[in-house]
Amino acid sequence: MSNILRRGRLSSSPDEDILNFTSSMSADKWIFEADILVDLAHTVMLKEQGIIKADDCSKILKGLLAVKEDGIEKLDHSYEDIHISLESRLIDLVGEETGGRMHSGRSRNDEVATCIRIRLRDELLSIMEELAGLRSALLNRASVHTETLMPGFTHLQHAQPTTFAHHLLAHEGALARDSDRVTDAFTRVNKSPLGAAAFASTGFDLNRERTASLLGFGSLLENSMDAVSSRDFLIETASAFANIMVNLSRMAEELVIWSTPEFGFVELHDSYSSTSSIMPQKKNPDTAELIRGKVGTVIGSLMALLTICKALPLSYNRDLQEATPNMWRSVEATRSAVRIMTGIIGSMKVNTDAMATQSTAGFTTATELADTMVRATGIPFRTAHQIVGVLARGTGIPTLKEIDAVSSDILGAGLSERGLTEEMVKDALDPVSNIRRRRIIGGPSPDETGRAISMHIGELEEVRYRINVLNGSIENSLKELFDTVEKCMEGN
Ligand code: ARG
Repeated sequence: MSNILRRGRLSSSPDEDILNFTSSMSADKWIFEADILVDLAHTVMLKEQGIIKADDCSKILKGLLAVKEDGIEKLDHSYEDIHISLESRLIDLVGEETGGRMHSGRSRNDEVATCIRIRLRDELLSIMEELAGLRSALLNRASVHTETLMPGFTHLQHAQPTTFAHHLLAHEGALARDSDRVTDAFTRVNKSPLGAAAFASTGFDLNRERTASLLGFGSLLENSMDAVSSRDFLIETASAFANIMVNLSRMAEELVIWSTPEFGFVELHDSYSSTSSIMPQKKNPDTAELIRGKVGTVIGSLMALLTICKALPLSYNRDLQEATPNMWRSVEATRSAVRIMTGIIGSMKVNTDAMATQSTAGFTTATELADTMVRATGIPFRTAHQIVGVLARGTGIPTLKEIDAVSSDILGAGLSERGLTEEMVKDALDPVSNIRRRRIIGGPSPDETGRAISMHIGELEEVRYRINVLNGSIENSLKELFDTVEKCMEGN
């Protein structure tokens, strides 16, 4: 048997069914390039530690660069995973006497964990960027709608007037926390398990810190058994992604509802809409619906990850192979959903007239009327709540005369006798005035939302700066890796 993995211990090869069942090759396309990086760093370190000779090191590195150049298609897909098929290709190129030394002091167990972390940290950085883009789109839209009235809802019933900017800022605030969670996950993803080998580390004098630094890791995942056994970094990331998607699904749901003629608040750009194959008039908000739908994929991936890891004994178990594709599924769905939502928000038409008209429908100013009674007359809020509640049973917006009639029933005196004026009632029933009064921190008044928008724009700049620093630090490490590889190939 020519299979470099099985030829020793095993005497027969798996048939196609068994190979398909056991192979991770299709998901491993995600980690092909990461695997080359891991091989390069490990080989350089083996030479630096005197474990392999400079000449072998140089040949292995050249071989690895050739494998990289040829791409994943050239690998033998009858192997069960990328790690062994890559090693086999290297041995084909440089011979076993040399290529057979690369895997010294290493196992596929620490190798795969390292590869996944390398790929995932890049994905995390790009999702951080995508999230920053979506937050910018929301803030840009909010900045021109600080005076745009709309009804605010609780229980999806008209509740109080607010502004479109205030509503958009609510979503943006949730995404800011999502972005923090992704950044947090990054620090735990970016730890190096390399050197853990199968689980018990190795008697070779490896320099784990050196490979970690060449690969741009922030620190080591020290305990060698923990290093190969743990996938909590996947669970944590998938959970952050599930949270992002839940937040996006809430935005998507609103966009779908707001696109109906009953609301008519927004109209998605044609490029983000679909039509019907039978009903020629239809314009459907399919992209928003699909964002809502893809949440199922992402939550499903999180459940799969949790379930696969539950009750696994230490250390490495092959079950862990089944975890990884769930992560990639989740990455793909989340990244695309964030990007599509950014496009939807940036391009949709906002019907400010429909929003403004609806802002007072359903007596949304009732709370302000009760508050005004309290401030003007000194009655307790609970009493004012009762008076306005009785008035709300009627059909129209109440006049001072009607208010007096109800308060006489409840208090034995009209509120006008206690200082409530026509002017005050008119003001309480005016949605613009409602908004202006709500100027405490986090409220919808144009001044306050304006302040929040500028503050969040500043925060986004800091987020983008941090993403650049992280990207820059990884780039510098990889540059050092490739510079060292160059030197080693020249025989130094
Ligand atoms: N394809 C495997 C995975 O994704 C790589 C590690 C295999 N290790 C082993 N002992 N069979 O987990």
